[in-house]
Amino acid sequence: MSAPVICVVGARPNYMKMAPIMRAFAAHTPAIPTLLVHTGQHYDAAMNDRLFTDLELPRADINLEVGSGSHAVQTAEVMKRFEPVIDAHGARAVLVVGDVNSTLACALVAAKRHVPVIHVEAGLRSGDRRMPEEVNRVLTDQISDLLYTTERSAHANLAREGIDGERAVFVGNVMIDTLMANRHKAVAPEVLLADAGLDPQRIAGGFGVVTLHRPSNVDDPAMLRRLIETLHAVSQKLPLVFALHPRTRKNIDTHGLSALLEAPGFLVLPPQGYLEMLGLMSNARVVLTDSGGIQEETTALGVPCLTMRDSTERPITVAEGTNTIVAGDAKAIIDGVNAILAGGGKGGRIPEGWDGRAAERIAAHLSAWFLAHERVPAGALA
Ligand code: UD1
Repeated sequence: MSAPVICVVGARPNYMKMAPIMRAFAAHTPAIPTLLVHTGQHYDAAMNDRLFTDLELPRADINLEVGSGSHAVQTAEVMKRFEPVIDAHGARAVLVVGDVNSTLACALVAAKRHVPVIHVEAGLRSGDRRMPEEVNRVLTDQISDLLYTTERSAHANLAREGIDGERAVFVGNVMIDTLMANRHKAVAPEVLLADAGLDPQRIAGGFGVVTLHRPSNVDDPAMLRRLIETLHAVSQKLPLVFALHPRTRKNIDTHGLSALLEAPGFLVLPPQGYLEMLGLMSNARVVLTDSGGIQEETTALGVPCLTMRDSTERPITVAEGTNTIVAGDAKAIIDGVNAILAGGGKGGRIPEGWDGRAAERIAAHLSAWFLAHERVPAGALA
């Protein structure tokens, strides 16, 4: 039996990408053997265990338990702990998804061990190198042998960075595979609020959903204050369900902003499970976010999204989907919400390849790629 494809997850947004890939590899004929490694970048039950259950991801075979730290410490710890896994189990390839620190760390270890690196969700670029994820994307793509893309614009980005077009394959969006597979299981927002001890009547007239966690938005106290004050203004017109990331919670408390969140228009919740978020987004009038994945999910759901960032690495969500970039601009955010409430929300269409079958296409392509690249050297069987 050949060595496994080592599949790496580390942080929350990785799980919804990996779940359909693991399933497609198991269902492929012949099955593609895998070893699932969790780096432990995210470890709280709310950020982690819950999502594994929701997504029916198998338990990780190995957990590296790296935990939190500076970027340097976290990346280095993942690298140190991941290398022995390759020694112990062998690796036919290492498959990484997305753009978190664990993605780059494991890709780098594999590349230096001459193990093929497969990057799913390759080629996305915000053009903003101050985002840690942008650095992770650029570097991971440079050292990947196979780059699976979610939108066609990624290929031009890769070509600009000198990456051989032969290595990049458009497959569509695995995150939308997960969305389609789980849509029917989404938790109704009223149920979720009642479970959290909040009165579901508060959203009877419609509601918005907020997520906020980018360092550029929540680590700078002035920016965080501006955003929370703007959201507070919005909440007076439209109740906002705010799923608070631990980084954001900590900074809101540290900078004395928690009183603003006690306003009657806010319904504050801890980080949510996948099925809860899906229920919230599907039923929202508008989603206000700085997440990458949520820009795609709202486009797939046809729900208007206002992205509180200066740029997006997922331009198709703006060109074809329901996404509008409003940055940290209070007027743009408030005008955007008003336009949506007045019925002027952006329509959109579902992008190519966002059809629930991207992981199947990866499994089929990868099998053929292994056949072509793992030929037994001439004479070896003599
Ligand atoms: C990471 C990813 C980001 C992704 C986000 C989703 C990088 C560079 N960033 O950012 O791309 O969108 O995950 O959440 O990889 N913490 C907890 N519990 C946890 C994990 C973290 O309380 O389970 C707290 C810690 O205080 C930690 C902070 O959150 O210092 C930030 O966590 P970290 O993994 O460094 O980055 P995220 O902001 O979550």
